[in-house]
Amino acid sequence: MDGPRQDDPWAVEPGAFAGCTDPADRLRFLLTYAVLAPSSHNTQPWRFRLHGGARLDLLADRERALPVVDPDDRELTISCGAALANLRCAAAALGEALEVAALPDPAEPDLLARITARGPCPPAARMARLLRAITARHTSRQAFEPEPVPATLREEAIAAAEQDGDTWLHWVESPAQRQAIARLVAEGDRVQMADPAFRQELARWIRSRHSGTQDGISAAGFGLPDLLSGGMALLLRRFDLGDGQAARDAALAEGAPALAVLATPGDTPRDWLAAGEALERMLLTLTAGGLSASYLNQAVEVPALRLRLAATVGAAVPQLLLRIGRGERPSPSARRPVAAVLDET
Ligand SMILES: Cc1cc2nc3c(=O)[nH]c(=O)nc-3n(C[C@H](O)[C@H](O)[C@H](O)COP(=O)(O)O)c2cc1C
Repeated sequence: MDGPRQDDPWAVEPGAFAGCTDPADRLRFLLTYAVLAPSSHNTQPWRFRLHGGARLDLLADRERALPVVDPDDRELTISCGAALANLRCAAAALGEALEVAALPDPAEPDLLARITARGPCPPAARMARLLRAITARHTSRQAFEPEPVPATLREEAIAAAEQDGDTWLHWVESPAQRQAIARLVAEGDRVQMADPAFRQELARWIRSRHSGTQDGISAAGFGLPDLLSGGMALLLRRFDLGDGQAARDAALAEGAPALAVLATPGDTPRDWLAAGEALERMLLTLTAGGLSASYLNQAVEVPALRLRLAATVGAAVPQLLLRIGRGERPSPSARRPVAAVLDET
């Protein structure tokens, strides 16, 4: 049996932060939480650059882009926003004051955020449960139990998503809206799966847990035996499995206790970064409340369906579609260690 890797970010122990006295060490430690963020196809499309002791840049790693499903790097930027949210959460919970400038230099579009550490500050006690949620959050692709999401948790999740005032979370519980959205999701599956380039791209990111790679999605992530990872990739490459996927996802959407559409006023990198931060704040809040979430982004990724989704829920610009409920917690997906994503100058 393989033991946990020593540099596996999932094994992070918050107590070790106290031993980091040097400012650069403190930032390196906080990055362990950043890299645990969710990302599309688990591409982990982020890089960090540490300048001296106290300045850290978050950069988009466009070599990890998904040009077919995400041609504008919209989801790539959302994923980086989620990593930034984890960094902020860990800093607040452990006691490091950060100043963050989003997209500070128009001449450097890959520079998504410039972070300056302002030194130790009192840890925010209310963030401790969200810090624990960073290591407990996993995308759960199985069906959820049917019981509704408690109203207090729903309100907390909405408040977390909308905290900065530049994103909205539309919570969908009405059966009619849910059915309309389920139809859009099914249509999205058929459109995407009919495209061999989409299937090739997805297959490239499916990996066995034992392949030794530290990114991508394993069959285990879909609730299937890991042994099927190779077979799944092969099947995807060769066959249009759209109808089966459509039926499965429509049932998941219709049966979910709640669906949620995260939306922004515009559709620029700034909106995407904000959406990523809002996504992760919401996911951590739900995780701390014992709930799970999963994505049904087909209806956002296919442009014509995105417009229909916006009209269905009355949202400005939908960025993500999620289903939410209580479900099994899957095992953690692979992560690259901090050293693999950090450059120091
Ligand atoms: C912007 C974004 C889009 C995603 N889209 C999907 C999706 O359409 N379907 C899906 O099953 N998972 C989707 N995911 C979840 C990722 O596959 C997941 O975060 C990644 O595999 C890492 O696993 P973890 O979330 O369990 O840590 C998305 C995640 C992000 C951040």
